[in-house]
Amino acid sequence: MSHTSSKKRVFSGIQPTGNIHLGNYLGAVRHWVDSQEQYENIFCVVNSHAITIRQNPQELQNKTYELAGILLACGIDTKKSHLFIQSQIDEHAALAWILDCNIPMGDMSRMTQFKDKSNKNPKNINVGLFNYPALMAADILLYQADFVPVGEDQKQHLELTRDVAMRFNRDYGECFNIPEPMIPQVGARVMGLDNPQSKMSKSAQGENHAIFLLDSPDVITRKCKKAVTDSQSNIVFDESRAGLYNLLCIYEIFTQKSRKSIEAEFEGKGYGHLKMALAEVIIESLRPIQQSYAKISQDKTYIQSVLTKSADSIRPIAKNTYENAKRLVGLV
Ligand code: TYM
Repeated sequence: MSHTSSKKRVFSGIQPTGNIHLGNYLGAVRHWVDSQEQYENIFCVVNSHAITIRQNPQELQNKTYELAGILLACGIDTKKSHLFIQSQIDEHAALAWILDCNIPMGDMSRMTQFKDKSNKNPKNINVGLFNYPALMAADILLYQADFVPVGEDQKQHLELTRDVAMRFNRDYGECFNIPEPMIPQVGARVMGLDNPQSKMSKSAQGENHAIFLLDSPDVITRKCKKAVTDSQSNIVFDESRAGLYNLLCIYEIFTQKSRKSIEAEFEGKGYGHLKMALAEVIIESLRPIQQSYAKISQDKTYIQSVLTKSADSIRPIAKNTYENAKRLVGLV
């Protein structure tokens, strides 16, 4: 089943846990912003996913609005895109149940994020954490999305989404559009600055692990200076030198320069030079976002009204898909 707009539809989501960092921005949010003209866009702060890890309720609420504000500050324009909060639309959880009943245990058990997250939270391995991908599939399928712009870590969840949608359509009748992942060529897996073997993540502990979008210039400079590299000295794009490669890729994205010209720029220069240049471009690129957030965050009522308006305008799409799925499986 497809939708009627002449533009292809994009859906994507982000969790309001921890702080939004450069990985989220370069792997996903930046692309949401850049392609707003081209597509019909639906973006979601996925707070129901966030409770798969134990949260402080008040903090979760605050973080949810904070993240929505940051997304607006990044350039999500609600004249072109919908931006809402997952728990505002009940059909997400409701469709997830129907999908749960149509995903084999074996498929779900293969999800590497469940394994990672349960290793990190051994005291709270709950059923929701295991079923997380079904809720994510519901998010996407409810809106008949064509494309899902995400970082590389979400690829496996997207495959599961496609599989369950195709199986459902085959077994019960046409219900879901089959979405395709949109994963950027560069920036799909930004690595931790303190450990370039592991991806930059909101939950990692190290104080120099991630650059957050609201970090001050001093903090950004400190984190860049402390970034782990290697004991060689020439500055070239070489994937086997993970720390250096990660810094160069971030530099490449922000400056939009070619790899050749970046290598020429740093020829004969040391890592210290690269790190300072990198800090500078990050600071300058984040400055307008931070300035815009400082204004937007003063007006919580504005943020809330934008979210509610978006949720109200897209709820009929979600209801329509859910009612169809419900009917097809024989629920009254
Ligand atoms: P989340 O909140 O972990 O991350 C949001 C987006 O940022 C991307 N990302 C990264 N990209 C590059 N390098 C990194 N180090 C990095 N870390 C995170 C993620 O791939 C993601 O695109 N399960 C999802 C949220 C979700 C969702 C959805 C996404 C729920 N429902 C439906 C798309 C469609 C998640 O936890 O993202």
